[in-house]
Amino acid sequence: MDSIHIFGGERLCGQTNIQGSKNAALPILAATLLVPGISVIENCPDIADVASMIKLLQSVGCLVMREEHTVIVDASCIKENRLPAEHVTKMRSSIMLMGAMLGRTKEIVIDYPGGCVIGERPIDMHLEALAHMGILFEKEEHKLRAHADRIKGTVLSLPFASVGATENVILAAVLAEGDTILYNAAKEPEIIALCEFLKSAGAKIMGIGTDTLHIIGVCRLHEGYCVVPSDRIVAGTYMFACAGCGGNIELDNVRTDQLHAVYDCLTQVGAVIEYSDNTIFMKMQERPKPVPYVRTAVYPGFPTDLQSPFMTVLAVADGTSVIEEAIFENRFRIVKELVAMGADIQAKGQYAYICGKVCLYGRHVVAEELRGGAALVLAGLIAQGVTVVGNRKFIDRGYEDICQDLKNLGARISVR
Ligand code: UD1
Repeated sequence: MDSIHIFGGERLCGQTNIQGSKNAALPILAATLLVPGISVIENCPDIADVASMIKLLQSVGCLVMREEHTVIVDASCIKENRLPAEHVTKMRSSIMLMGAMLGRTKEIVIDYPGGCVIGERPIDMHLEALAHMGILFEKEEHKLRAHADRIKGTVLSLPFASVGATENVILAAVLAEGDTILYNAAKEPEIIALCEFLKSAGAKIMGIGTDTLHIIGVCRLHEGYCVVPSDRIVAGTYMFACAGCGGNIELDNVRTDQLHAVYDCLTQVGAVIEYSDNTIFMKMQERPKPVPYVRTAVYPGFPTDLQSPFMTVLAVADGTSVIEEAIFENRFRIVKELVAMGADIQAKGQYAYICGKVCLYGRHVVAEELRGGAALVLAGLIAQGVTVVGNRKFIDRGYEDICQDLKNLGARISVR
């Protein structure tokens, strides 16, 4: 049951609902550690990374209950500050537990985090920022011990608007002594969701949604509550599926205000998009047009997490397109699989040159990471014949049920 079988070459037509956001749910779950009581998180996606994060919370002493898409965390009693390697090395977001555990207990012992193989992914910015707040680091074989007697608010500027480093600073600053001002903070919607959750529990955060955050340390948080916003990357994935296959789809439960850079690219390839409240209607009647140049960027720019799905669409565009991947240095891993399916793509450094072909051909391909894996599923939908995408486990890290969602949109797809 670790592969996805797709009968491709058909137009999409149908409606599906978009799940809660992985990248919002994970830091919010980490943040429950700062609450010495109950946190209720609704619309939490049922994905492998959330399951790993729940195991990590349990490993330090939290009681966690899950009822469908509601997760209730009781972090009244934290008994342990050493995290089990097994779950830490599976996903990069485990690094969020550093800021949260330090905020709560002033100590954590953690392995270097894992995650998708999309580049070096160092954590230097996280460590430098936390060091400014009075945190000390010591290496223990393969692990890192971080501790502090006092965590002090400070004035910081990130050299790059890293999502994870911004989240870690917020988590460490909420219960710190004094004020923290963070310049060049990331502005991704998932950071807004984290701040809103923390505010619900009594944190004092100003400048939310801007690149300057002002956090006034408080002594204690109380119960926290949030509804995880819908996943803009999952919504974008399904829109690119429709762009590649053609058709007519409706996506519900979408944060339609978070996708402007994606609408822009989809419009350039020839899609017609309408949205109102939480619903997107998309029509694609023709072969995709090429896009002369697109560059991934921090929010509100075009998201790196949708670069591979977009590349798959451009592989069948009527002309040549160029993508610059400006966030991660190793995010063209699907090129060889797309080429095996008949695409003409050359990756040189941070650039991919895509000469669109009339069609792709079904093949047995293997996912190596989350978003690239989803892009291979899209390639299978677009291709003539049968495609088998192996290593489904990578896709399950972020998509609750990609097969059912795409079936709802009319695809012929199944898990085997
Ligand atoms: C988060 C998202 C991921 C998304 C990415 C960029 C989660 C769980 N993951 O990842 O889906 O693709 O934002 O939008 O929210 N960097 C350093 N040093 C550091 C930290 C980062 O050099 O200490 C570099 C990274 O290697 C990368 C770039 O900065 O090249 C962006 O990373 P960052 O914004 O931190 O992404 P993540 O938080 O890992």
